[in-house]
Amino acid sequence: MAKIAILGFGTVGSGVAEAITKNAEIIQNKLSEKIELKYILDIREFPNNPFSEKIIKDFSIIQNDPEIEVVVETIGGAKIAYEFTKKALLSGKHVVTSNKELVATHGEELLRIAREKNVNYFFEASVGGTIPILTPLESCLGANKIEEIYGILNGTTNYILTRMIKANLSFEDALKEAQALGYAEQDPTADIEGHDACRKICILADLAYGKNISPEKVQTEGISNITLDDVTIAEAGRYVIKLLGRVKMREDGKIFILVAPHLIKNDHPLAVVNDVFNGILVRGNICEEVMFYGKGAGKLPTASAVIADVIDAVRHREKRKDYGWSGSGDDMVADLSEMVYSMYYRISDRHSGDCKAISEIYDHKCLSLEGAPDGEYAFVTKPMSGKEHEEKAALLQKKFPILSRIRVLDDQRESV
Ligand code: HSE
Repeated sequence: MAKIAILGFGTVGSGVAEAITKNAEIIQNKLSEKIELKYILDIREFPNNPFSEKIIKDFSIIQNDPEIEVVVETIGGAKIAYEFTKKALLSGKHVVTSNKELVATHGEELLRIAREKNVNYFFEASVGGTIPILTPLESCLGANKIEEIYGILNGTTNYILTRMIKANLSFEDALKEAQALGYAEQDPTADIEGHDACRKICILADLAYGKNISPEKVQTEGISNITLDDVTIAEAGRYVIKLLGRVKMREDGKIFILVAPHLIKNDHPLAVVNDVFNGILVRGNICEEVMFYGKGAGKLPTASAVIADVIDAVRHREKRKDYGWSGSGDDMVADLSEMVYSMYYRISDRHSGDCKAISEIYDHKCLSLEGAPDGEYAFVTKPMSGKEHEEKAALLQKKFPILSRIRVLDDQRESV
């Protein structure tokens, strides 16, 4: 019998309690032993909840109970969760979490403590919700040099963009729906402004390259400036707009890493990843391209990944799994001014489609897109470096006020 405690009885924590009870027999058959949920830590009262007799308010009870082998941290954030995780690891308990903020910011230190105390620190649910991505990246794709990882890493923003595209909803109404469905973070700014996706692409990069990339090093842009006009124009040009997290290794071992909305062709596999689903593409030098797909947020889907880690921690209670990263990788991060890509522009243009003036700025004919409102014009440039984009944008802005600009993903045309 393995006894566990859950810290935080919110969406994910309550999902873990529910699912671990529901699938107790399946889990017992896998492990040849039972998992018993002994405590749930939360400062709130849950009077009519089936788990109410397990709720406690004092973390030291968990820390000092030698029966507790695995602590499930689903508090979120990097304050109390950090303190309790550290204490649990130092007390020789395995810790499992879905907390990407904590893993992305303090993962290196927590992994070091876990190593020193000979316990496991697992966080499969921190990226892609239910999707198995970290374990496959580490194990199944372990023979590869990882050249590139990119994908839709945030369920809330993907839900919002999908509802804008398919139901013509405003950004605000789509956000309200996502919050009601329990997808959004407590503070939705982390989703909308790309911070949540940034933490996830950092964790993927950390694991792929074995070094810690600080989230502050990652240029991060969210979706709050995306308008229904951009969505409509993109659709007319056979593109969809998706928020992507990307990390791409150059020949010299440096990496481009960023989070930003992108126009992607509607026949790209990520274009059909809709609603709260996430899709992640990994390109390795021998496996080529592998895609992972599933629900990126939500109570039970996320609990599925958390419980899998609990099972793994119990299986590796004697001989811990060596997993993670160490040391800083911040000097690997290359300047995005050197990255080559195409860019979509929507500009104010009284003569709708003054292609000659635009071609002069860009030294090439840009691809016009249909569907811009009267007095506006939309186009896509050819690929060029970030530095050239900035120079051209400054010239463009002098003649035609720029209303929006969004990167274009075209890995066929893009070169590093
Ligand atoms: N708020 C996150 C998302 C939850 O929407 O993807 C899962 O990490």
